[in-house]
Amino acid sequence: MEVIYVDHAATSPLHPDVLEKMLPYYQTLFGNPSSIHQVGRQARQALDQARSRLASLFAVSEQTLVFTSGGTEADNMAIIGYALENENKGKHIITSQIEHHAVLHACEELEKRGFEVTYLPVDETGRVRLNDVQKSLRNDTILVTLMFGNNEVGTIQPIKEIGELIENHQAVFHTDAVQACGGINLKLDELKIDMLSVSAHKINGPKGIGLLYIRNGVKVKPVLFGGEQEKKRRAGTENVAAIVGFAKALELALESMTKRQELYQQFAQILTDTWLKEKVEFMINGHQHERLPHVLNVSFPGVNIESLLMNLDLAGICASSGSACTAGSIEPSHVLVAMFGQATERIQSAVRFSFGLGNTIEEIEHVASQTAQIVKRLGQQKEFIS
Ligand SMILES: Cc1ncc(COP(=O)(O)O)c(C=O)c1O
Repeated sequence: MEVIYVDHAATSPLHPDVLEKMLPYYQTLFGNPSSIHQVGRQARQALDQARSRLASLFAVSEQTLVFTSGGTEADNMAIIGYALENENKGKHIITSQIEHHAVLHACEELEKRGFEVTYLPVDETGRVRLNDVQKSLRNDTILVTLMFGNNEVGTIQPIKEIGELIENHQAVFHTDAVQACGGINLKLDELKIDMLSVSAHKINGPKGIGLLYIRNGVKVKPVLFGGEQEKKRRAGTENVAAIVGFAKALELALESMTKRQELYQQFAQILTDTWLKEKVEFMINGHQHERLPHVLNVSFPGVNIESLLMNLDLAGICASSGSACTAGSIEPSHVLVAMFGQATERIQSAVRFSFGLGNTIEEIEHVASQTAQIVKRLGQQKEFIS
């Protein structure tokens, strides 16, 4: 049976051109960039070139980029590293209830270490209110960390406005752009962002590599100790092959961004048109316009999400109930709870389809009709039992 993968927000396949770029750095050009001999120097050159390429794609300077093992480490470095380095300025942090666990759990760790964290609520579209951000800023607030685009429902936060609001406050602004990067134009030069996290495996790059952008002048304590790599900000031998692949992946993602945005919009339209035609009851979760194009989160009232996902899987369709980290547990999604509250069927019946490399119109038509059939079957079962 053909497998249709519509879970690209969880992770994405490596682009063949990325793999091709990476392979020599596992084979002949395998050196350690810190070695002074020629094999090391070749690796150093590749590392420098990839950093320079990434910096120009983000329109920032090279020394602002610190390579990490992925989005989780970038978030931890931004939050824990910044808080520990700057606790003399205050111990208050602002975040939201819908962040990825890489942010939420880093904030919880800081609470255990004596910091105070405000978890902002969101509206039903998944957006924080600017007024709430403004009201929660205090004299001792040192960091505001709010995600760019949500991994479960795709809602994009008003990042530009939040940056402007914080600009004249001592607090710095970190954003987790792991899902947004490569999907929408981040315009780093136009946004008042101090730190930004990105991960390669969401954009058809390799797993285990990410970066933290740290604006010049922002001081962050390292979270790893050892060698002097990354200008003493992140110890450990650099993952040269992955960094080279990361640069290629971002280049390809930006080149194809507009085309992909249009295609994913078409995919979402196919799904919703089919369900309307098939008279399937559904509700879309997330903001109607301010959304990441590759994510479509839908509730099918009356349908048990685990049964739906299991049946989709049996039909060869890989979708998800939300973030991969919470999938497999029956805990309701913290994102949907923040948007709609606990007591709603909407959060028990939500499925996330996320599009990416390799998905075709034919595939999505198949996903649409299979989902309609399964939802009807499961809905009918429910009526029959009750
Ligand atoms: C919004 C967001 N932040 C952070 C992460 C963690 O990134 P990584 O898997 O590279 O550690 C993810 C991954 O699902 C994510 O979606």
